[in-house]
Amino acid sequence: MKKTVLTFAEAKEQGEKLTMLTAYDYSTAKLIDGAGIDAILVGDSLGNVILGYEDTLSVTVEDMIHHGAAVARGAKDALVVIDMPFMSYQTSVYDAVVNAGRLMKEGRAGAVKLEGGTEVCSQIKAITDAGIPVMAHLGLTPQSINAFGGFKVQGKTEAAAKKLVENAIAVQEAGAFAVTLECVPDKLARLVTEKLDIPTIGIGAGAGCDGQVLVYADMLGMFSDFTPKFVRRFANTGQIMTDAFKAYIEAVKDGSYPEEKHTYKIDDDVIEKLY
Ligand code: KIV
Repeated sequence: MKKTVLTFAEAKEQGEKLTMLTAYDYSTAKLIDGAGIDAILVGDSLGNVILGYEDTLSVTVEDMIHHGAAVARGAKDALVVIDMPFMSYQTSVYDAVVNAGRLMKEGRAGAVKLEGGTEVCSQIKAITDAGIPVMAHLGLTPQSINAFGGFKVQGKTEAAAKKLVENAIAVQEAGAFAVTLECVPDKLARLVTEKLDIPTIGIGAGAGCDGQVLVYADMLGMFSDFTPKFVRRFANTGQIMTDAFKAYIEAVKDGSYPEEKHTYKIDDDVIEKLY
């Protein structure tokens, strides 16, 4: 059955954990969807994982539409959430609504996600007023990496923790249906989760959140540029792929692939006429 924002609200009410993984293409989305996930995030981590950028800042609305639409084609049941990339919503409320609309119309998203607290509440309100569900994103927000001075845990001081709680309440009041909490101390994430009526989806924020999200390539051991402390490797798919690539190279070189069963036939008298 198709998951929606109502699935998120019901899960919070019933104390059921929500599950979300990233995906950036049709085939991976189809596998994740078939496994029974609640939501698939077409994260702007696309920039790191798929496009090989150092950060997420170069990702464009066109990139998100291109990959989002592929994911949407593969996701039968999961709610597809597409990230709004850097500078597609910070510039103005107008830009935010237009770009969120493109992610829905052209990317076929079920919801959009954007980073920030009080400073983007007018954008969250305008987008939700346009009938587009918004997931907020607080804590370590990778689009602000230059302002943070690196990938650092957020909300550790009293002032920063207080600000995070205020931001969480503000995005809820602005209309967000859920909030991602990234790289936040677990006790603070638990407190935010208790204070909010909307679900919190944690990544590096401990087990007290209403749900969890991971970058699929991290949890499969396919992305090795850096592995954050909070990632559990659920499989070593990267090694399995490397072994398979090596086996293919060897089989082609030693002539053991392709075999007879991999070939197409032609009548001998046709071929003989060509000699
Ligand atoms: O872009 C992304 O993958 C994300 C997750 C880290 C939450 O925003």
